[in-house]
Amino acid sequence: MEENKFKVTIDGIETEVAPGTTILQAARQIGPEVAPPAMCYYKPLEKSGGKCRACLVKVAQGSAKDTRAMPKLMASCITQVQDGMVVENYTNEEVVETRKGIVEFLLLNHPLDCPVCDQAGECSLQDFAFKHGTEAQRFEEERRTYEREDIGDKIQLHMNRCILCYRCVHTADQITDGRCHGVMYRGDHAEISTYISKAVDNDFSGNMIDVCPVGALTDKTFRFKNRVWFSKPVDAHRDCDKCSGKVHLWYKGDEVIRVTGRKNQWGEVDEFICNTCRFDKKETADWVIEGPAKMQRHSVLSANKYRKDAIKPEYALKHAAQNYKQIDDSRPYNKSLEEVKESEDYKALMDKNKEFKLLNK
Ligand code: SF4
Ligand code: FES
Repeated sequence: MEENKFKVTIDGIETEVAPGTTILQAARQIGPEVAPPAMCYYKPLEKSGGKCRACLVKVAQGSAKDTRAMPKLMASCITQVQDGMVVENYTNEEVVETRKGIVEFLLLNHPLDCPVCDQAGECSLQDFAFKHGTEAQRFEEERRTYEREDIGDKIQLHMNRCILCYRCVHTADQITDGRCHGVMYRGDHAEISTYISKAVDNDFSGNMIDVCPVGALTDKTFRFKNRVWFSKPVDAHRDCDKCSGKVHLWYKGDEVIRVTGRKNQWGEVDEFICNTCRFDKKETADWVIEGPAKMQRHSVLSANKYRKDAIKPEYALKHAAQNYKQIDDSRPYNKSLEEVKESEDYKALMDKNKEFKLLNK
């Protein structure tokens, strides 16, 4: 072992990380094939994580010194690795089963209005449910609903869709000048507070749209303009005195319909952008175009865009391999109708037909 490095094994793959690294970060270091999903953790935001339980994993061995397993599943985004720790994620049935329950919990109150939601196509909850959820839900009660609240001309708040991940609260706290909103009440009554309208006036408030994993905070200037998968994202930049000016421009034909921060493969914004870049620069002439954006997330966004190597969800492939028979492709194919008519199978079928007709005369 290198000095000051901890060895950790995740789903059978060993890696070395600095002390203080979380299990989730160690898993991301290995790659998306072992990285747990995350609905509330957001690396650029301090103190994020620990709210949604999407990232639960089994710690099968606590450390090299204490080889006992941890009795309960652990939230990987806030649990630090120990030297010699062994973690099971996709290889552990209990984890896979529990995630189905977590999807169900997150969908208890989240409306199934994807067809009219602007976040569809880049919604982390959609991706999470697709990869880890079940087809059916047991919840029969009425979903919790909130009065609509107008929080200004730029950001649309749909509290009904909120999963209380706290990312927007951390964004307002850490990126804008003084947080004016937060989560009020507790448990089933918890909601993003009314003072969000004050935070919206801030120069960096638009970043709350980018960090929201669902469609609870969406861009009013983009509302109902296009499904994201029909729009064409390009990388562009401009000289901006407030932010890095590095963005994705989303085109519909020649029109820039939306400006967002650039996201990495974990769906996290690399550099937060200011509201001037996001809301006020919607002309191509405002920008230096770099070229087509490479969508790194494994979602509908990357499936039909510029890359052919989109990784299909591992879980779906495993599920298909376990539950469906492989098609027998070893049969010889006939090329023409004449050949079909000459084939033994065809003749046998015709004979059967004749018998059938005779019988039913
Ligand atoms: S509004 Fe979005 S970012 Fe804020 S807590 Fe709800 S889901 Fe999270
Ligand atoms: S991502 Fe770990 S608890 Fe939400």
